[in-house]
Amino acid sequence: MDAIATLRGKYLEQIGAAPDADALETVRLAALGKKGEISLKMRELGQMSAEERLIAGPALNALKTEVDAALKARKAALEDAALDARLKSEWLDVTLPGRPRPMGTIHPISQVMDELTAIFADMGFAVAEGPQIESDWYNFDALNIAPEHPSRQEMDTFYLHRAAGDNRPPHVLRTHTSPVQIRAMQAQGAPIRVIAPGRVYRMDMDQTHTPMFHQVEGLAIDRDISMAQLKWTLEEFCRAFFEVDEVELRFRASHFPFTEPSAEVDIRCSWEGGQLKIGEGKDWLEILGSGMVHPHVLRAGGINPDEWQGFAFGMGIDRIAMLKYGIPDLRAFFESDLRWLRHYGFTSLDQPSLAAGLSR
Ligand code: DAH
Repeated sequence: MDAIATLRGKYLEQIGAAPDADALETVRLAALGKKGEISLKMRELGQMSAEERLIAGPALNALKTEVDAALKARKAALEDAALDARLKSEWLDVTLPGRPRPMGTIHPISQVMDELTAIFADMGFAVAEGPQIESDWYNFDALNIAPEHPSRQEMDTFYLHRAAGDNRPPHVLRTHTSPVQIRAMQAQGAPIRVIAPGRVYRMDMDQTHTPMFHQVEGLAIDRDISMAQLKWTLEEFCRAFFEVDEVELRFRASHFPFTEPSAEVDIRCSWEGGQLKIGEGKDWLEILGSGMVHPHVLRAGGINPDEWQGFAFGMGIDRIAMLKYGIPDLRAFFESDLRWLRHYGFTSLDQPSLAAGLSR
């Protein structure tokens, strides 16, 4: 009996003192493993006399059960302690301020495209698109631009290379968004009301010109559309875009092959103290070309000019972005200077909508 009491004292103490799961397992093997002390003692029962066994058997069994239970309890306690320690070391202070992430900005051109799309959409214009690599038929012929017209010359237009013997029709980087008029008419027929914002290309590079820039084309064809509607549409657009109640537009007679009559449109402004103000003053700034769509152009688009008529316009997006947001140099738009982009860029949450007012 003494031997059992000694074993009990020894193992309960070792179990209580085991610092971790590995130490506890070592204790378990020493006590209850195949060659553990308690296991060996139980094997000795066979050699005992019947009376001895009657006393030692239950005592050993009780010891085994007690040590087993103590092992389990210690194991659970160690696991709890480990979990507590983890919870203590890994807790998260959710009240700490968030880590700032570097955030990009919306380029002013993208912002202005979204703005003008919202305004024209409100007037019932859908957005049409066309390819930036365009056949010379769409870019010139269909728009009634004669073969000898100076804008076709290699000096202004980027022609795509053709190997000798390649007889596919010539293609160009579109020099304006006007070919989208033809594509939209072919695709949708009349009546039609679309705008087409996008990139255009010309061989030009100085303070006010870049080889790639942006235009938005407008086209409205119906049975009785006139210059009056053109004027109203453009005035309404300028009022909403520049966010001034009073805008004054000046229509100057001009010439474009694809419109008859044609007009260039200036907007009244002032340049006092180097600060540009739209809608007042004694200066005029040209912002677009426009006119009544030429019958040849309607026909190229598959629309009968005896039944349908309408207006078209083409506006420089970079130009009106510079005017609205006071950006002095056109070339900076396309230099990808991060400081410039952060200064003139818009946050992604600044979604243009008519209800919210258009600008920041
Ligand atoms: N395509 C012309 C240009 O690039 C702009 C233009 C003028 C477009 C008159 C039109 C228009 O639709 O009617 O300069």
